[in-house]
Amino acid sequence: MEERLDLIRIEALSALEPVDDEKSLENWQVKYLGRSSQLMEIFKALGTLSKEEKPIVGRTANQVKVALEAASGEKENLINQRRIDQVLEGEKIDVTLPGRRTISGSIHPTTQTLREIYRVFGDMGFQIYRSREVETDEFNFQLLNFPPHHPARDMQDTFFITSKQDRGDDPLLLRTHTSPGQIHAMLEHTKKYPEDPPPIRIILPGMCYRYEQITSRSEIQFNQVEGLAVGKGITFGDLKGTLSNFARRMFGQEAKTRFRASHFPFTEPSAEMDVGCFLCGGDGCSVCKGAGWLEILGCGMVHPTVLENGGFDPEVYSGFAFGMGPERITMMRHHIEDIRYFWANDLRFLDQF
Ligand code: PHE
Repeated sequence: MEERLDLIRIEALSALEPVDDEKSLENWQVKYLGRSSQLMEIFKALGTLSKEEKPIVGRTANQVKVALEAASGEKENLINQRRIDQVLEGEKIDVTLPGRRTISGSIHPTTQTLREIYRVFGDMGFQIYRSREVETDEFNFQLLNFPPHHPARDMQDTFFITSKQDRGDDPLLLRTHTSPGQIHAMLEHTKKYPEDPPPIRIILPGMCYRYEQITSRSEIQFNQVEGLAVGKGITFGDLKGTLSNFARRMFGQEAKTRFRASHFPFTEPSAEMDVGCFLCGGDGCSVCKGAGWLEILGCGMVHPTVLENGGFDPEVYSGFAFGMGPERITMMRHHIEDIRYFWANDLRFLDQF
């Protein structure tokens, strides 16, 4: 018996020698350690042995089994390691190669300014109201107190998109300013609350269009941010306070403001707000053209006729409105000399922001 076990061990181990893949290892395991292997036959036959022989043969058989299992395990590790080595060899990477540069875009300078304006007015409790870019003459002019053929229309040369034949005195056009949004917002509000409408506090951002000569100072397409507050007892003091506060939050705590009388058909009284030049601090430089002040926006108390056109009783309600150009503000802040850069899609310009 002992001799047989010895032979089994020698034969098994030498048969394991050439095994070098999973499949043949499996075959080897079936043949030498499997249920019908010679070794297992011996285990099964243990019961037929004498009392003296049984423990001795049993122990040796166990030793052979342990030895074969160990050898098989070692072989398995070897095969696995070789497979891993092969995979790694195939996937070799050269860590000394230079990396690929990732190209990241940046946010358009106008968008950055717009977002800052939204943040500042958002902090003051203003909501954003979106209004259409294609307007009627009625909303862009008439309801804002520009009568037909009024000379104030000349300030805003217009892209008309229908003719007199199509729509008579109410042609379609591209809005020349965001102010028609005031009327839409007020009408929507007073329709929703016909009795005693609660106050309105909104900003209306968006694209505007003017049929103008394109120069370094004027584009045919530009953004505006309109503001509108309507309620009971709103005064010019509220307008000055809100807009001075805006200037300080936008341009820094030191920002000085001044209001100059002006004229718009839809506000009365009307004003323009200047900010102390943030480049020279008021001493006069090329950006403020020596004036020490930069014009930032137009504003005024909403004209009673306009309030009425929006469904508000001007005897009970009052309000203020303002409008500013984010491209203009961006130009002043960054000392940009030509408004055409904003639409030129020149990465050398855009990459700087
Ligand atoms: N709509 C005016 C413009 O485009 C700006 C403005 C808005 C002025 C609201 C007063 C009140 O020039």
